[in-house]
Amino acid sequence: MDHEGPDDSVSQMLVLLRAAHLLRAAVLLDLADTLEDDPLSVPDLAARTGTDPGVLSRLLAALTSFGVFTLAEDGRYAHTALSRTMCSTHPVGRILTQDLKADANWQAWSNLAAAAREGRGPFQVVHGTDFYSYLSEHEPERAADFHQAMSNATEEDNGDVVAALGLPSTGLVVDVGGGRGTLLRDVLRAAPELNGVLFDVEGVIADALPELVSDPLASRCETVAGNALESVPEGADLYLLRFILHNWGDDDCVRILKSCAGAARPGSRVVVVEVLLEKTPDAYTAMADMGMFVLFGSQERTEAEYASLFERAGLEYRGSTATGSLHLFEAVAR
Ligand SMILES: C[S@@+](CC[C@H](N)C(=O)[O-])C[C@H]1O[C@@H](n2cnc3c(N)ncnc32)[C@H](O)[C@@H]1O
Repeated sequence: MDHEGPDDSVSQMLVLLRAAHLLRAAVLLDLADTLEDDPLSVPDLAARTGTDPGVLSRLLAALTSFGVFTLAEDGRYAHTALSRTMCSTHPVGRILTQDLKADANWQAWSNLAAAAREGRGPFQVVHGTDFYSYLSEHEPERAADFHQAMSNATEEDNGDVVAALGLPSTGLVVDVGGGRGTLLRDVLRAAPELNGVLFDVEGVIADALPELVSDPLASRCETVAGNALESVPEGADLYLLRFILHNWGDDDCVRILKSCAGAARPGSRVVVVEVLLEKTPDAYTAMADMGMFVLFGSQERTEAEYASLFERAGLEYRGSTATGSLHLFEAVAR
């Protein structure tokens, strides 16, 4: 028998699925945070995580085979670059560990086939409600952690997005679904004469970044709670929507964009910031698209699809700009 490893792609995919279960176990057992900077022996790590040393030893050996943790010559386990991304303090890793931990998300992924039969998103099929409502109703603590983790993860792209925006020097920018407000903060810092409104649902607005609600930015920034499906604050020169539309189906996207069109003045810009879905996407983008379907019943989109959403909402599509790993899709109000 060949012991070198799986010899066909289906076997390899099954190995990756099982590897995801290993990662989930590591996160649920808090292995990465427990290890910190000092290597630990299996008995020490088992004592600190309340695990069986024999099972833990096998789990660690399996994780190590994927580059998550490393075994030193003295028999103790230490961090690798990969395992450090699983620490709760890691800026980007936090959203991934959040996702790995969440039972509700795993139940949704396990029901992909049922959802395909029903033609609805798995999260909706399993939990009977949408992702954001479920979080705020059933897991408010995770909701707060999710928004914090999202804010940390998306902050990495702020520099690219701000540089590509071509910000007006004066006027008003509304960040629709702006989360805790890191992008708006960086926009306002880049354009010292610009005013801003952070717009999101009530629970998120209540947790807006301290930098936005205190001086020096507070005098130029307002926080407004509401529902973008119904309306958004009026009179902005620029409406920003980063990672908003990929959470919604086409009809709801059109409702959100119509809210912007209805609140904007003729000539106001509406800029959607998202990942671009190519006709033949790479695995990372394809999985981002499936992730949107599983959790939100929604999707990543091609440029033609964004252009069509803008036009359906009565906005005039102007084109896209690539920046870092993201694209800006821009329209103007008629
Ligand atoms: C994926 S997060 C993106 C946050 C932020 N734009 C960023 O780039 O970090 C989506 C945001 O949409 C907000 N949201 C969800 N439903 C909303 C609604 N009906 N009206 C306004 N905001 C909403 C969520 O609370 C969340 O902050």
